[in-house]
Parts: sequence; structure tokens; C-alpha cells
Amino acid sequence: MKHILAVGNATLDLIFALEDYPREDSEVRAQDMQMRRGGNAANTLAVLSQLGHRCALAGVLADGAESDLILADLARHHIDTSACQKLAGRPPTSCVLLNRRDGKRTIVHYRDIPEYSFGSFQQIRLAPWDWIHFEARSNVGELACMLRHVRDQRPDLRCSLEVEKARPWVRQLFPMVDVLLCSRAYAHAKGFAQPYPFLHWLREQAPQADLIVAWGEEGAYGLDRYDQQHHSPAFAPPEVKDTLGAGDTFNAAVIDAFLRDLTLDEILQAGCHLAGVKCGQEGLDDLV
Ligand code: ADP
Ligand code: FRU
Repeated sequence: MKHILAVGNATLDLIFALEDYPREDSEVRAQDMQMRRGGNAANTLAVLSQLGHRCALAGVLADGAESDLILADLARHHIDTSACQKLAGRPPTSCVLLNRRDGKRTIVHYRDIPEYSFGSFQQIRLAPWDWIHFEARSNVGELACMLRHVRDQRPDLRCSLEVEKARPWVRQLFPMVDVLLCSRAYAHAKGFAQPYPFLHWLREQAPQADLIVAWGEEGAYGLDRYDQQHHSPAFAPPEVKDTLGAGDTFNAAVIDAFLRDLTLDEILQAGCHLAGVKCGQEGLDDLV
């Protein structure tokens, strides 16, 4: 059991399950509607908690009644929220269209509440943690201060960074982390259609890190510190039911595997395996 802190989002997800993806300007009836707590960092912690770790979130929590479901779910997963910033407003909210035909999800996200600040991060005692996971959001300048602070105070503490989207200046964070977890969307945004050329480009920005890119149904690719290439195929469930949070589950299993000192091949396999299990079921509960 390790102590893991994640800096990032907890959201309110309104999930509409549909027979198929709707045409624009049509009106369709959903087969099911669920409200769930989401958010990349919170999802990753919910899985890490199932894997037996002690988890805490450093993110922004809105004070209104819409946050009750988020708070209740974090509590249910024993995720400590004492490092969170509590602000007036509504929580970041997503409308998710889940296509039951192929399990693909389409997310429309809205937020008007500020991102987590360095000032709040500075209040956190760094001594207890075995790992800190950062979600690269629009607060890149604040994240850079957080990472510099960690490097200064706890140079031994391993840090991972999830990069889902191309954001201005995000590359300045890369040299400060041990593990970079990128999305295929980020590789595409940088002009790469293939994973290995992307990973070798990443290497120029992150000379010290283990580099990983998740590639949907193709599994995941990695480049270790010695520039050896690695790949794990995806683990296909009997039926792909729901891919919402597959990447967050992958990240959790990868962090858990790093903490168990597995090889990069084994780490990618562990990530793809648990993400595959997740794709075969709705939601993130009972994955382990
Ligand atoms: P997200 O879009 O949630 O960020 P990705 O599409 O990058 O996630 O997928 C993350 C991981 O989930 C992949 O590396 C793969 O292992 C697994 N995965 C995604 N889609 C499927 C699928 N259709 N079948 C099996 N595994 C999948
Ligand atoms: C899934 C997810 C959702 C959330 C959205 C935020 O990866 O975390 O739960 O609404 O992404 O971008």
C-alpha cells in the first residue's frame, strides 16, 4: 500500500447511453441516464484506491449542491479531499454521449471555476507521499511551480504527468517528471500519426523520463530511459460497453505497476489489461 496524491480534476458527468450516435439536429431518446463523479485525476485515484493504495486529491471543489454527488463518491472511494480548494460556483460538468453500439464516448465539457493553484499546493506536506500524479490542465504555470517545489523539497519523490491535450507551454513541464503519460490526441495534435516517432520527439523534451502513449484499440507504446521501445496490445473484453475513463484506468494501473517496480513491458501490459476490463463494463467500480 502506497500513498498517492493526484493534482487535477473531479467533475460531474451526465452520461446518456444511446443506441447509436445521433445526427445533428435530430431528437433521440436515451436508453439510460446516469450522473457520476468523473474527472481524470479523480478517476485515476478511484482505481488506485481499488488497487489498495491510500489516495488524496488536490483539486478544486465547488461549494454548491451539485457537488454533493462528487463529494459522496470521493468519500466512498476513501479519497482524502483535505488538500482540495473549496470555491464558490458549480463543479466542472461534462455531458457524455455513450454509444452502446461500440462503447465510444463523446464528451462535451464545461468549466468556469478556476484551476488548482500553487498557493494551495504549497500547503501540502510532501513527506507522506510515494508518488504524485499531475493532470496537465490549463494551469501550466502553476503546475510548473508545483513541480519545481517538489523537485526542491523531495527530489526522490516520483512524479507522473498526464498530457491529454496540446496546451501552451505544457512542454516546460516534461523535464521535471519521471513518467509522461500522453494521449494519442496529443500525438496527433503534434503532427504524429505513429506512436514511436512521437515518443522519440518527446525524448528531446524529457531526457530522463519513461515515456508512454496510450493508443486506444491498439494498446499502448513506451520508450524507456535507455531508449528501448515497448508495446502492449490492448486486451479486448468480450464486448466493449463503455470506454469513458479507459485512459484514466490505464494511468492508474501504470502508476501501480511502477510502484511495484515492474519492467516497462509489464507496466504497459498491466495498464492495457485493466483498461480492457474497464471497457467491458459500465463505470469504474469493481474493477479489481
Ligand atoms: P481515453 O480516450 O479514455 O484517454 P484511450 O483511448 O487512449 O483512452 O485508451 C486507453 C487504454 O484503454 C488503451 O491503451 C487501451 O489499453 C484501452 N482501450 C481503449 N479502447 C479500447 C477498446 N476498444 N478495447 C480494449 N481496450 C481499449
Ligand atoms: C474521462 C473524464 C470524464 C470527465 C472528462 C473531463 O476521462 O475524466 O470523467 O468528464 O474526462 O475531461
